[in-house]
Amino acid sequence: MKTLVIANQKGGVGKTATFVHLVFDYAARGLKIAAIDLDTQGNASFTLAAHKTGVLSSDLYLKPSIDALIPTDNVALVEADPSLAEIERLPLADGIKALRQKITAMEEAGFDLCLIDTAPSLGVAMASALAVADFVVSPIELEVYSFQGITSLVTTITNIRDNVNPNLNWLGMIPAKYDARNPRHRNNLATLRESYPSLVLNPVGNRSSIAEALETSKPVWAIQRTAARKAAQEVRAVNQQIFDMMVE
Ligand SMILES: Nc1ncnc2c1ncn2[C@@H]1O[C@H](COP(=O)(O)OP(=O)(O)O)[C@@H](O)[C@H]1O
Ligand SMILES: [Mg+2]
Repeated sequence: MKTLVIANQKGGVGKTATFVHLVFDYAARGLKIAAIDLDTQGNASFTLAAHKTGVLSSDLYLKPSIDALIPTDNVALVEADPSLAEIERLPLADGIKALRQKITAMEEAGFDLCLIDTAPSLGVAMASALAVADFVVSPIELEVYSFQGITSLVTTITNIRDNVNPNLNWLGMIPAKYDARNPRHRNNLATLRESYPSLVLNPVGNRSSIAEALETSKPVWAIQRTAARKAAQEVRAVNQQIFDMMVE
């Protein structure tokens, strides 16, 4: 089993949109997926509600063991709950130990992939997820505020890799909500590619069909509108890029 975390300490950048589309896409390819929502906002849990298992994210940290995860259509959701806030008071080492134990159990239960959506904060939840992960990918917005956060994102990932998890592989950034007609976005994308040549994945446009998909609990490729077609292509392209890097 491989574990992939979606992380960026900035909110509203497309983490959950990326997460649910990776889940839908890879599940449709036949992979058995444990989908963990570590954000108390519970956006991913809302969209993936059909895959609930009754297991709560806080259980991963606060209970010695969890019930067997029973997938629905290849996906077993570990849903966000309010007690997740409590894990921020745990010593990081305890959080890592508890999470690692549950991830090992998922691997033993035959899951192929564990995908983790995180909250926009550099707390125990995100740090522990990065500590147990094989891969991390970071959606970003092509706005200056988002750029300012990249340095701290790089620092966080580097720190975890140097001190806790040498296996952590940063697959890169997904420019999300990209508006190709906006000169600022085009310039910012070019700057990003210059600064991080090997870390900029395919962009995903700012497309309302993606928001509609999240609201209606289906992937954007299931939305029957001409405008959704381009969005579907872009999302699938970046999902494929990530897939290829994970199996390399
Ligand atoms: N590519 C996109 N185009 C248009 N809207 C998007 C796109 N990706 C996400 N959104 C919308 O933007 C908002 C924030 O996205 P979300 O994935 O929840 O970000 P995060 O998880 O980083 O906070 C949501 O309302 C979502 O529907
Ligand atoms: Mg989110």
